Amino acid sequence: STPSLLILAGDGIGPEVMAEVRRIIDWFGSKRGIAFEVSEDLVGGAAYDAHGVPLSDATMARAQEVDAVLLGAVGGPKYDALDFSVKPERGLLRLRKEMDLFANLRPAQCFDALADFSSLKREVVAGLDIMIVRELTSGVYFGEPRGIHKEGNERVGINTQRYTESEIARVARAAFDLARKRAGRVCSMEKANVMESGVLWRQVVQEVHDADYPEIALSHMYADNGAMQLVRAPKQFDVIVTDNLFGDVLSDCAAMLTGSLGMLPSASLGLPMENGRPRALYEPVHGSAPDIAGQGKANPIACILSFAMALRYSFDMGDEAARVERAVESVLADGLRTADLMGPEGGTPVSTSGMGDAVLAALDES
Ligand code: NAI
Ligand code: MG
Repeated sequence: STPSLLILAGDGIGPEVMAEVRRIIDWFGSKRGIAFEVSEDLVGGAAYDAHGVPLSDATMARAQEVDAVLLGAVGGPKYDALDFSVKPERGLLRLRKEMDLFANLRPAQCFDALADFSSLKREVVAGLDIMIVRELTSGVYFGEPRGIHKEGNERVGINTQRYTESEIARVARAAFDLARKRAGRVCSMEKANVMESGVLWRQVVQEVHDADYPEIALSHMYADNGAMQLVRAPKQFDVIVTDNLFGDVLSDCAAMLTGSLGMLPSASLGLPMENGRPRALYEPVHGSAPDIAGQGKANPIACILSFAMALRYSFDMGDEAARVERAVESVLADGLRTADLMGPEGGTPVSTSGMGDAVLAALDES
């Protein structure tokens, strides 16, 4: 059956970068004979303006039916004063929660043309290709008890790190499955030296490995050392699997190894549906960038690479995903730069759609 996609472009630069993805989807239909059934709907502030909620029930239901959701970005100053229950971010949180997207995949890849743009030295990052798998639906952001209580005459803020073994096992499996398609190495990060949840994490990851993934090279590392190693020698890693909190911090750290926020894609995966495809949502890491919205300045590459991840992880079209990634690589090698990528070495300035034009031209040549 035709693969189905729900596009939720959202707010700010979301619709601008998604328009370029739309052109690539159409290119696959007309030039490669790979058709997608695409529907579009509202999320975030745009949905609030239309329906009074950041994600309507009908949109939520549609998201559960399709093979993959592509999301742009949500939020903006116009909505900052709204009640928490209808804030744009809540639309995204509802999607993640109801689709049970427990594995957040954040690749950190360094395109050679941008190696001098990294915060680190060229030799440390050139050719970097790592994948951080962050547990997304449990851990300290959700554990009970939580709250701010009065104890005697002072206030106490409480959160609880809680992981069940099935929560650990399923995200470990996601990481091992990825490693099988990559360099075959997984490094699991926790703080088993000081946290009970970390002790269980390490045990369960090891058990899943020994039972079902003995061919994968598994190592364990304390997360603080992991942060240091990511900056010192990031190329030692292939897949990193870690919990929600450490993953939040480590993936932002890894993001800066590669340059601009405008380059970073992500995927959030859940359990397989009846057709065997995982529940999945793909989105750039960046937000709605109100400071540049509506000016044609946004870099569409993060969103384009998110679509490439959809090709690879939802539709098993790894060759087509690589085709998109090579097209991006070649326009960067040609020196085309949206404003966020313009470093001291210069380049040819292009707009959002100019970058889209160039990627399409590179696809035509592929
Ligand atoms: P942001 O990611 O929107 O922007 C941070 C900086 O990076 C800005 O200077 C922006 O111009 C730049 N930038 C971001 N994406 C870019 C791109 N594709 N091309 C070129 N430059 C880019 O984060 P910020 O400013 O903290 O948040 C703005 C709004 O976005 C807020 O309402 C926030 O809540 C929301 N947000 C939404 C997210 C999502 O939809 N997943 C994630 C992060 C923030
Ligand atoms: Mg973060």
